[in-house]
Amino acid sequence: MPTIQDFEATGKTEVNPLREGLTRRKNPDPCSIVLFGASGDLTRRKLLPALYNLGRDGLLPSKLAIVGFARRPKSDEEFREEMLEAVRDNARLYDESDPLWDEFARSIFYHAAAFEELEGFGSLSERLERLERELGLPANRLFYLATAPNQFSTIVKALGKVGLVPPPGTAGGWRRVVVEKPFGRDLASARALNRELREVLDENQIFRIDHYLGKETVQNLLALRFANGIFEPLWNQKYVDHVQITAAESLGIEGRGGYYEQAGALRDMVQNHMLQVLSLVAMEPPVANEANAIRDEKVKVLRAIRRIRPEEVDRFVVRGQYGPGLVLGERVPGYREEVGVLPDSRTETFVALRLAIESWRWAGVPFLLRSGKRLPKRVTEVCIQFRTPPLHLFGEDTASSVAPNALVINVQPDEGVSLRFGAKVPGPDLQVRQVKMEFRYGTSFGTPTPEAYERLLLDAMAGDPTLFTRSDEVEAAWTLVTDILNGWERFGKDPYQYPAGTWGPQEADRLFEGTAGSWRRL
Ligand code: BG6
Repeated sequence: MPTIQDFEATGKTEVNPLREGLTRRKNPDPCSIVLFGASGDLTRRKLLPALYNLGRDGLLPSKLAIVGFARRPKSDEEFREEMLEAVRDNARLYDESDPLWDEFARSIFYHAAAFEELEGFGSLSERLERLERELGLPANRLFYLATAPNQFSTIVKALGKVGLVPPPGTAGGWRRVVVEKPFGRDLASARALNRELREVLDENQIFRIDHYLGKETVQNLLALRFANGIFEPLWNQKYVDHVQITAAESLGIEGRGGYYEQAGALRDMVQNHMLQVLSLVAMEPPVANEANAIRDEKVKVLRAIRRIRPEEVDRFVVRGQYGPGLVLGERVPGYREEVGVLPDSRTETFVALRLAIESWRWAGVPFLLRSGKRLPKRVTEVCIQFRTPPLHLFGEDTASSVAPNALVINVQPDEGVSLRFGAKVPGPDLQVRQVKMEFRYGTSFGTPTPEAYERLLLDAMAGDPTLFTRSDEVEAAWTLVTDILNGWERFGKDPYQYPAGTWGPQEADRLFEGTAGSWRRL
């Protein structure tokens, strides 16, 4: 594990990320984390590895108990073995000779019980009290719902009934609940879930995860905009022509046919991740760097997006579905041939939208969003495309080869920011060509960025909800998305087919009608 001195010795970095990380704030107070859905994929692929990485970075509380909760009977030892494998396969900081593992494993426990049976929660309560006594932990408890969404409210109700979450205001340690996605499947179900959670919990005890908010580059949107003087004056309808947000994946549905058939790209990516990114791009400066101040501004953006009427849906939204094709040199089946997918499925694996934000800042600036599976490559980026100069000073020939300035925030995989502008080609003629000025995280900071779940787990333990979605944000996003779902149901054309390995159906190009732009070729 690199130390602070190692970083300083390499001379690679201007900013020492370890020191920054360590001095940024104190480690969270000792607590217990209960992982509901402990035998699931998320626990194995993301949660345990993230906790372990936090341990390696010295960011965990000084004392911690991690209790896996799932139906299958197994001993603490067996669960530890499984988790070691999970960490070995998935933790970015794992190495064989790691002395931390034994210490970390001693804080892992397992509790076998069914979500539907109250006794299992009663015995969990006793188990936690015992662990707290033995390990000298305060009764600070984080309950993480990494289960199927239809279990969320059952679990929270049970937590309330057995007193694991006492009524808000009761003295004692803190109690918080992290809720995984999807949070509802339309506006009505999201509202119902919010209501059910609020019967047991205060809003400030509920941490709704959107892992995009845990990504460094997404958080950097705030730094880019509000820690610099040069961008914000340009960040409005006077200078911005349009904004494009792309979340492209080369992967297909990865064996999740059952889930994806019920979801589709709009619910899976747009309702949560893409609208969250959009709200950070478009929000007004918050009055303070504080959770509610930031979320107040984000929700205002979501509310200012013009709602799409059902009969307008095909004008502003284009959906697609991949057929068989070639992705990264490999032949892949079409969506309808995937396991768990109906042969005549109408579920969209690609969606593109044109949104309008009706605010003083953004009036008349189209926001174009696209997301899809089985596209040619994995890339997530935000592009702010600026207006062209008011006058063609260098003659039509040159001017037509000059693309407008663009500021691109690369969310993944090449995390960074680049600015495209025109420069004179050396030589006797005045020829202008596009060049790029680039910032890359890897080069400037010399260290891989932490996984989103590391930051989010740390914040949940520390009680900082800034990077979690508030109930009003979730409902505002569902309002927009439910309009589209209703439109599709009543008026929508079937999804256009696109061959896997292409950039989605060509029909998505017409969303640019009336603008000078087009989808970026990535
Ligand atoms: C998840 C979706 O929320 O986000 C997946 O359910 C998608 O379908 C994933 O693949 C994308 O996340 P990332 O971090 O790989 O961009």
